[in-house]
Amino acid sequence: MQILTTPQELAAQCRQWHAQGEDIVLVPTMGYYHAGHESLMDHARPLARRMVVSLFVNPTQFGPNEDLAAYPRDHERDAAIAERHGADVLFIPDEGSMYAPDHATWVEVPELSHGLCGLSRPTHFRGVCTVVMKLFMLTQADRAVFGQKDWQQQAVLRRMVRDLNVPVCIETCPIVREADGLALSSRNVYLTPEERAQAPELQRGLQAARALAARGEARVKVLRDAVLVRWAEFLTLGRLDYLAVVDPESLQPVDMLEPGRPALMACAVRMGKARLIDNILLTL
Ligand code: PAF
Repeated sequence: MQILTTPQELAAQCRQWHAQGEDIVLVPTMGYYHAGHESLMDHARPLARRMVVSLFVNPTQFGPNEDLAAYPRDHERDAAIAERHGADVLFIPDEGSMYAPDHATWVEVPELSHGLCGLSRPTHFRGVCTVVMKLFMLTQADRAVFGQKDWQQQAVLRRMVRDLNVPVCIETCPIVREADGLALSSRNVYLTPEERAQAPELQRGLQAARALAARGEARVKVLRDAVLVRWAEFLTLGRLDYLAVVDPESLQPVDMLEPGRPALMACAVRMGKARLIDNILLTL
C-alpha cells in the first residue's frame, strides 16, 4: 500500500491506473477506524481493480464550535487497517494541500442540506460536498462507498453526482453496530461510561417505532411520540437535536406512512461531548 500525501500525487497515480485500463473504487473517511470503516473497505475491495482510501479530517464540514481539534486521530493504526483491508493507496493530505488560504469555491445541494443534521450544522454538507467532489475529481473514481449511518450525507452526495453528471456510482453500506445496538462512530469515544450505557436507547427507540409501524400505525406523530416517551424515561442524559420522519430520497417530511413506501426515521441526540446520529426505515 502506498501512502500519498498530496493531491498531485493522488491524481497522477489514478491517471496512470486509468491509462492502464484499471478501474478505481474510493472509500472517503476521516479516520480513527472502527468496524464500520472496515466494512466499507471490505465492501469496496471487490468492486474495482484499485482501491483508494482517503483519510482527511475535513475542516470545512465542522462548524465553529464543533470538535475539529478534538476529533480522534491515529494515523499509524489506521494505515495498518487500510493495508490489511486491501487499500492500494491511503491518501492522507494535510489541510494546506486541500484548501488554499483563499479557497472560495463550494459545492452545495441546499435543498437536501438544510433539514435534519443541517438544522444545527448549517455549513456541514457544503463542506462534505466540496471535499468529496475534490476527491472524485482527483481520483476519477468509478465507484465510491459510504455508510448508511450518515443517511442524509449519502442522499446529498447522490443528488450532487446526479445534478453535476459526475461519472461515479455511489454505493451505500449498512450500519455496523455494537452488540447492544449502538451504531459505531469514531465519536463514541467521547461518551462517559454512564452515557455509553444509555446510548443504545437511540436505536431501541427507533426499533420501537418500526415495530409500531409494522403493526399498522401510519401516523407519524404517534410514532414520534412513542419514541420521545421512551427516551424521556431511558435516555435521560441525552438532549434531542432532532427526530424526524422523511422521504428517504427527497428528505421531505412525511406525516403519514403509506403502504409500499418506506419512510426514514432519523435522529440526532447530544450526549455530553458527543452528538450521536442514527436512523431506521419504517414500513407500514
Ligand atoms: O463520512 C465521513 O466520514 C465524511 O463526511 C467524509 C465523507 C469522509 C467527507 O469528509
